Amino acid sequence: MPSLRFFCGLLITLLWPLQALAQECTLQFDGRIDADLTAADFNDANDIFSNQFVIGQGLAFSQALRLLPAAAGSLFDIEGGLEPVQVLISDDSIFNNQLAFRRAELIPASNDGADASTQGVKTLHFSVLKDLQRPLNLSHEYQLVFLESADFSTNQFVLKTGTILGQDTADPDTLQLFGNVNDGQLLFSTAFTPGVFHNFALLLDFDASTTQVFFSTANDDLVQVTEALQNDLSGQGQFHFGVLKKPVNGVGDITQNGDQPDGINEGIIFGGVFQEDSSDGCMSLTANVE
Ligand SMILES: *[C@@H]1O[C@H](CO)[C@@H](O)[C@H](O)[C@H]1NC(C)=O
Repeated sequence: MPSLRFFCGLLITLLWPLQALAQECTLQFDGRIDADLTAADFNDANDIFSNQFVIGQGLAFSQALRLLPAAAGSLFDIEGGLEPVQVLISDDSIFNNQLAFRRAELIPASNDGADASTQGVKTLHFSVLKDLQRPLNLSHEYQLVFLESADFSTNQFVLKTGTILGQDTADPDTLQLFGNVNDGQLLFSTAFTPGVFHNFALLLDFDASTTQVFFSTANDDLVQVTEALQNDLSGQGQFHFGVLKKPVNGVGDITQNGDQPDGINEGIIFGGVFQEDSSDGCMSLTANVE
């Protein structure tokens, strides 16, 4: 469990104080999954992810999650032998009567919308990988990772793929990180390459309202890919990691109107989801894997 991992990290740091360890920053939350857990463990209250939100009505998280072998882990999973997690959507992934959306998302258990994860200076880490067996339909817009404000009025940032509604998408097979949707600024984009994890670290300064992006693929060290960009991060809220599929041909309230094909079996694989406190400048860029 996260507390044990953190304790072990602390021990190692004390024993080898000169070794440049990765992930030595204080953690705000840890969504990395120990290899002894199963998908069914996420049906009950746990200290990793919410077992309430976001899931299709009547579904349990064990029906929307698949744990992958630790050997398939991302940059920040490998060292600890931790497991990637796949988030799946089906025709039944209808949350909160949003009939034209299909969605399943993980929210960190401690992230209640008013907690410290949206205060001060934090770095959010996550890695995303395609599942070639359960591909997304790139005719649609998908949100994969986002911060939704506590009053549900905006997303302060959102990672999208597919055909973005209301825009000309040159290549839908792209990961596009947008800032606050009220402003619509594109912060960073990169090809969504099959077979490799895409590792993101977002340095979120909630005091200065800036977002800075660090990125790599596979097990490469993260590198800075943007400056600290002005981006309205106010409003606190919750971080979502999963698949939110929007309809095509929607008009008005697209949670209710638009087309969703039947018979879908789609998913995205996540690794290395965690957040660290960067108020003192601490940030993990390498997993220290030789
Ligand atoms: C992808 O989505 C479009 C629009 O909803 C639909 O017409 C098409 O049949 C879908 N393709 C597949 C392979 O499901």
